[in-house]
Amino acid sequence: MMQSTPAIERSPAPAGAEKPEAHVACLDFSFFYGDNQAVKNVTLDIPSYQVTAIIGPSGCGKSTLLRSINRMNDLIPGGRTAGKLLFDGQEVYGPRLDVVALRRRIGMVFQKPNPFPKSILNNIAYGRRLHDRLGKGELLATVETSLKRAGLWDEVKDRLDDNALSLSGGQQQRLCIARALAVDPEVLLMDEPTSALDPRATARIEDLIAELRGRYTIIIVTHNMQQAARVSDLTAFLYEGNLIEYGQTAGIFTKPREKRTEDYMTGRFG
Ligand SMILES: Nc1ncnc2c1ncn2[C@@H]1O[C@H](COP(=O)(O)OP(=O)(O)OP(=O)(O)O)[C@@H](O)[C@H]1O
Ligand SMILES: [Mg+2]
Repeated sequence: MMQSTPAIERSPAPAGAEKPEAHVACLDFSFFYGDNQAVKNVTLDIPSYQVTAIIGPSGCGKSTLLRSINRMNDLIPGGRTAGKLLFDGQEVYGPRLDVVALRRRIGMVFQKPNPFPKSILNNIAYGRRLHDRLGKGELLATVETSLKRAGLWDEVKDRLDDNALSLSGGQQQRLCIARALAVDPEVLLMDEPTSALDPRATARIEDLIAELRGRYTIIIVTHNMQQAARVSDLTAFLYEGNLIEYGQTAGIFTKPREKRTEDYMTGRFG
């Protein structure tokens, strides 16, 4: 299987970046569910501070690959990996890796907004409390900063004690993004973060991704080609677990090198 993995220029941390660069790379990485190899020998270097989209037809392994990055697949019976996945030079599946610390540095946002059935404030404070013993003042400051970063502060600042489930779907998703940002991650994984949202709420999340770009490394799985074209710098096209093509989004969309990419883009399958 042809794998196109152009060398990606790695730039130093831009001004405003939250942390020095810590980047994600797959080296001949595979993930198996029992005998089913859902991700097949993928080699992929994901640059920091940019937005990388993972696209491909249903069942091609997008979520599996994404979830492998912060070891969200750990508890699946029969799940195992081969090859290497590196984050900040460390082997994510290495024996000494601290998974809690990893997940603090690599946050995740899911397809369906999943706030805790708690107050808006506690949704954010909760994750942060797990990691740090903060005083009340610091905690409130974190809540405000995170909600501002997620573009939700103005809408909720007067109702922080309301239950998070009273928010609209789009607001709930931005709350989940705020919750992920509250622990100061370096990487944000998003698995179809807008597929449960209407076009307006989707546009807000896409704007938010554009704002977070340059400060966080964002890896987003999407079924929506227009969304990949709008929000991402790089696009990886997966097909049946194989990485078929990877490169600058503009290039992939206007001039795919592989026929299968083109067929998928033009709606011939998927
Ligand atoms: N928990 C699981 N246990 C066993 N097999 C699984 C599990 N999750 C996914 N798979 C299998 O792994 C393959 C890849 O699934 P995955 O969910 O990664 O695809 P996807 O590209 O995210 O699809 P979709 O676009 O529908 O979300 C599929 O064959 C799927 O059936
Ligand atoms: Mg999926």
